[in-house]
Amino acid sequence: MTTVQDIRSHGEDDAPITMLTAYDTPTARIVEEAGVDVVLVGDSMGNAVMGHDSTLPVTMADVESRAGAVVRGVEEALVVADMPFLSYGADEGDAVENAGRLLSEAGADAVKLECGPHTVELTERLVNLGIPVMAHLGFTPQHVQQYGGYGRRATTREEAREVLELAEAHADAGAFALVVEHVPANVAEQITDALAIPTIGIGAGPDTDGQVLVITDVLGLSERAPPFAEQFGDVAAEMREAVDGYREAVEGGEFPAAEHGHSDADLDDL
Ligand code: KIV
Repeated sequence: MTTVQDIRSHGEDDAPITMLTAYDTPTARIVEEAGVDVVLVGDSMGNAVMGHDSTLPVTMADVESRAGAVVRGVEEALVVADMPFLSYGADEGDAVENAGRLLSEAGADAVKLECGPHTVELTERLVNLGIPVMAHLGFTPQHVQQYGGYGRRATTREEAREVLELAEAHADAGAFALVVEHVPANVAEQITDALAIPTIGIGAGPDTDGQVLVITDVLGLSERAPPFAEQFGDVAAEMREAVDGYREAVEGGEFPAAEHGHSDADLDDL
């Protein structure tokens, strides 16, 4: 079983950490069977599977329900649940309660926070209470309105230094790993070198301790994928073929066949 301590103690010579999102039991099962180390119940579910155009509408109830489904499909991998928009950051008591629910009710192993100066103390508090925290810096999708859209972060020396300092502050506060999203590869590399905890990159080049992608991008199920994503299959084509096959079989009278139903002679005359 992969633990938070296994991830935290990831060494330079170890194989890169693999992390993928999942939002339901059958997908989580497949991700786990493939040997992926960490399953992230990301608030990317908003765009990926809920039809929203951002992560902002995703609620605690959404993440709790999806995290529970993922936990039921996984035995070995570490399950990390995202804290959704405004479930933290406004009121510390609410944040602690919400993070706690993702562990005690949904059964996740850890939570992930999109970070800024406002999450350093919260990280320390959660960790002290026994709630492991994965930090997330660089492009943080819950700030999309603040940024004015999707795009690269840490592209100036000033912003890159700020991200590095925040990364160090969250590591010092007790975070066990850091996701670093859509920043220049050389910035991600320097952050990785500076931290004692592992970095997991997305759109951040090859020199992090691990990689994460959104499962629908990997499977070819996304309508739009970010430029740094890679499609490793065409599940949409398989689904179309299966659904067409079903429709054609029903319309052509081939489904259901005798073996799909049952009759009882006693019920012939009603
Ligand atoms: O919500 C998510 O899936 C994420 C990953 C893209 C890192 O935060």
